[in-house]
Amino acid sequence: MSTQSVAVVGLGAMGSALARAFVAAGRPTTVWNRTAARAEPLAAIGASVAGTVEEAAATDVTVVCLLDSAAVEEVLPRLAGSGTVVVNLTSATPEQSRDLARRAAAFGLAYLDGAIMVPVPLIGTPQAHVLYSGDRELFERHRGTLLDLGGEAEHLGADPGLAALYDLGMLDVFFAGMTSFLHASAMLGADGVTARTFLPYAERVLDVLRGSIAGLAGQVDADSHPGDEDNLTMDLAALAHVVATSESRGVDPVVPRLSHDLTRAAVEAGHGRDGYSRIVTVLRGA
Ligand SMILES: NC(=O)c1ccc[n+]([C@@H]2O[C@H](COP(=O)([O-])OP(=O)(O)OC[C@H]3O[C@@H](n4cnc5c(N)ncnc54)[C@H](OP(=O)(O)O)[C@@H]3O)[C@@H](O)[C@H]2O)c1
Repeated sequence: MSTQSVAVVGLGAMGSALARAFVAAGRPTTVWNRTAARAEPLAAIGASVAGTVEEAAATDVTVVCLLDSAAVEEVLPRLAGSGTVVVNLTSATPEQSRDLARRAAAFGLAYLDGAIMVPVPLIGTPQAHVLYSGDRELFERHRGTLLDLGGEAEHLGADPGLAALYDLGMLDVFFAGMTSFLHASAMLGADGVTARTFLPYAERVLDVLRGSIAGLAGQVDADSHPGDEDNLTMDLAALAHVVATSESRGVDPVVPRLSHDLTRAAVEAGHGRDGYSRIVTVLRGA
């Protein structure tokens, strides 16, 4: 089988990293960017520079990595009729991804959606992780090319919205964790404890959290929320301490207050003897 050629459309921070990884893997690589100057560093390492999107799409696979779905929507019609396989790695909502998949099909384009789960420096390394969704057979046919990006290329299912959905779930957990750490740093910092001093203790909690969310997952799926090891009434008392300690130091308690108020709502709804997984039913509005 001949080596597949690839184009990268969009040379922002991430698109440039993707293009560098393809070039580093020895893949015939063409690049295009709206602002042409951003292609120059890629040309310097051996990429071909296309003058137009249409020219870039004369490749087997076109990886699209733009600012947002609106930008992809603008570019998509220009790929129509090229015969290239479009792999869209632009972040989106599941609805936007499904809509782009429909539009691509209307243009006669083979289309895979994807989400990049690592920052720029990890592209092309064993730590890279990219999620894909859409036609599995199409993914399998191009997996070798996509693995030039390093690490893991994971196909989640035929629904083109799945990569975006998992991406957003992971971002949900990621940002909540970062915001909580920053809140705790501000709260302890008010008493002179530096963030670095507190860091190993936060890391210990993360180790505990790994086991805790595994337990929550089973309980959420079983819709069973036993409170035999910990219960919401006890959790509410602990969360009230966090909120009070934050307030008394002039640190906005918005982060612990969120958990506090969800827990209080569950207790007020009569679930005080249940475990923390009961919060999922409050979030669902049940
Ligand atoms: N950077 C990261 O760490 C990271 C991590 C995971 C996922 N991602 C995702 O990767 C995607 C790209 O991110 P990035 O960091 O590369 O962003 P970026 O540096 O801001 O680059 C945005 C790119 O989109 C292009 N663009 C914007 N509007 C356009 C339009 N209407 N038509 C054509 N091109 C257009 C820009 O072209 P110009 O140069 O002409 O402005 C540029 O190439 C995003 O969806 C982002 O969420 C990024």
